[in-house]
Amino acid sequence: MSDAPVLIGRGLTKRYGDVVALDGVDIEVWRGESLALTGPSGSGKTTLLHVLAGIIRPDSGTVHLEGRRIDDLDDRLRTRMRARHFGFVFQEGYLVPELTALENVALPLLLQRRSKDDAFAEARRWFEPLGIARLERRRPGELSGGQAQRVAIARAIVTGPSVVFADEPTAALDTETTHRTMELLEQVTRHAGAGLVVVTHDPAVAARCDQQMSIRDGRIGVPA
Ligand SMILES: Nc1ncnc2c1ncn2[C@@H]1O[C@H](COP(=O)(O)OP(=O)(O)OP(=O)(O)O)[C@@H](O)[C@H]1O
Ligand SMILES: [Mg+2]
Repeated sequence: MSDAPVLIGRGLTKRYGDVVALDGVDIEVWRGESLALTGPSGSGKTTLLHVLAGIIRPDSGTVHLEGRRIDDLDDRLRTRMRARHFGFVFQEGYLVPELTALENVALPLLLQRRSKDDAFAEARRWFEPLGIARLERRRPGELSGGQAQRVAIARAIVTGPSVVFADEPTAALDTETTHRTMELLEQVTRHAGAGLVVVTHDPAVAARCDQQMSIRDGRIGVPA
């Protein structure tokens, strides 16, 4: 296990007009560990996730990935850094509807200019461990919510990211499917040695994670 956090946010602030979405957040993410972010609607969870992942820039504060500052990179470099080092799972999966499950998982590798053979071989490896081995040729419209999230997990992990970010990954799933989906998400990230940041409203999902942080009005507090 590494002796330094893979991702460090320090003094992060973000405003939207009069709204203070983040108000001085310090946060650390460790390889092979999961961190749950909980808090009421509008408390700043998604904003924090987007700042950590380099999707938006903070107004002040810093984000370091493996010792390298990433918040001040220009848009082009931040986009490249995101594709290379981060994976994402969202509430609805955001799979590309026209592509098969296998093509969806291979897509991040193809965007990194990996050869087609290579990308598909790499993508195919994830279907068995995620329990979706027979679904490679289905399109997202032909998958259940839980199956679609497994495909989304495969797509998030296929590039070998340092950190996987998940924003309400189980919000559209029933209790049993939530449990199984979280189990798989934790397993694959831990096994790959990636950090996992999960935004969730669900106390049962948060309780599964190695660490919990609650956020309220853009500030980190202790979990309720
Ligand atoms: N692009 C934006 N423009 C203006 N205000 C925004 C924007 N994004 C977020 N906000 C505001 O910032 C605050 C934090 O929003 P954020 O989306 O981070 O909350 P959240 O904790 O993820 O909420 P939820 O649980 O509902 O998803 C809210 O007051 C929100 O209205
Ligand atoms: Mg949100």
